[in-house]
Amino acid sequence: MNIGVLTGGGDCPGLNAVIRAIVRKAERNGDRVIGFRDAWKGFLANDWVELTVDNVRGLLPKGGTILGTTRGSPYDHADGIERTKKQFAHLNLGALVVIGGNGSLTVGSLLHADAGLPIVGVPKTIDNDIVGTDVSFGFHTAVQVATDAIDRLHTTAESHDRVMVVEVMGRDAGWIALMAGTAGGATAILVPERPFDIERVCEHVVRRHGRGRFASIVVVAEGAKPMPGTPPHIDYAKDQFGRDRLGGISAAIAPLIEERTGYDVRVVQIGHIQRGGTPTAYDRVLATRFGLAAVDAVTDRDFGKMVVLRGDNVERAPMALTQGNTRTIDLALYDQVEAAFFG
Ligand code: F6P
Repeated sequence: MNIGVLTGGGDCPGLNAVIRAIVRKAERNGDRVIGFRDAWKGFLANDWVELTVDNVRGLLPKGGTILGTTRGSPYDHADGIERTKKQFAHLNLGALVVIGGNGSLTVGSLLHADAGLPIVGVPKTIDNDIVGTDVSFGFHTAVQVATDAIDRLHTTAESHDRVMVVEVMGRDAGWIALMAGTAGGATAILVPERPFDIERVCEHVVRRHGRGRFASIVVVAEGAKPMPGTPPHIDYAKDQFGRDRLGGISAAIAPLIEERTGYDVRVVQIGHIQRGGTPTAYDRVLATRFGLAAVDAVTDRDFGKMVVLRGDNVERAPMALTQGNTRTIDLALYDQVEAAFFG
């Protein structure tokens, strides 16, 4: 069978490990794998490369994706579904493995439902916001990178009696902020799921300083929002898909903290460092397990499904679960951490 593979949406550590696992297993099964460059763009433009055990050698620790990635899908074109069906026929594709986040998996599920196309999904994102899986690969690496940064910031913050505002990724879900903030002993953690009140954040920082702790680390997810009617107000520019081009909430709240507390404040936006570079061992293993399981789903012709982690087991779940859904943080855990450490 010919199996197509594409990586869509933002890149994340572990994508290459999935590709490698798919190729290794498919070749053993006697299947042929072709990889589309730049996601659906390459798929529709017939831009692909044959993937063999030889050309995926050494990929396990490599960050990013050798296939390249873009956002966008066949649904952006009036004749996109027809062109997609034609491409399946042209290349005699028996299956397509879509490795992507909520957007790519939603597109995969719609193409399966609307056009009956044989698609299997593999969930990836550093944001960990995909419904149906306990964890997506890439998340563990992002949390580790953010935690390492927070650890380093503690010592310089302490040396200067400063407040450090550390911005991490997380558009709709504050998983990275919650986990890295907890692991790094943050003074406050601001997440999209819980609109924040800057006055409360400042009161807490002042109270902490009053107890003789001069350095504070405020971790803020890029998608965190203030409570309605409270500062800061940010007018984000839009990206080509009409989404807010996030980034900058830390710079917006830093002067508010400085004004209200009188303390010296610095801003660190970790940004794409969280997404670049080698995956952790955990992510390499999870990505490998997902790649192997995706080939099993193809062999079983179990299309319209994505591979997911539930507990310790890799299982399958409908890709359609991702449509319009976001896996937000566990608010009970947030409350527990807040009550113990921010008050
Ligand atoms: O894919 C997840 C993510 O890293 C989000 O956390 C972030 O908002 C977005 O991608 C950034 O996208 P881009 O790389 O296009 O700026």
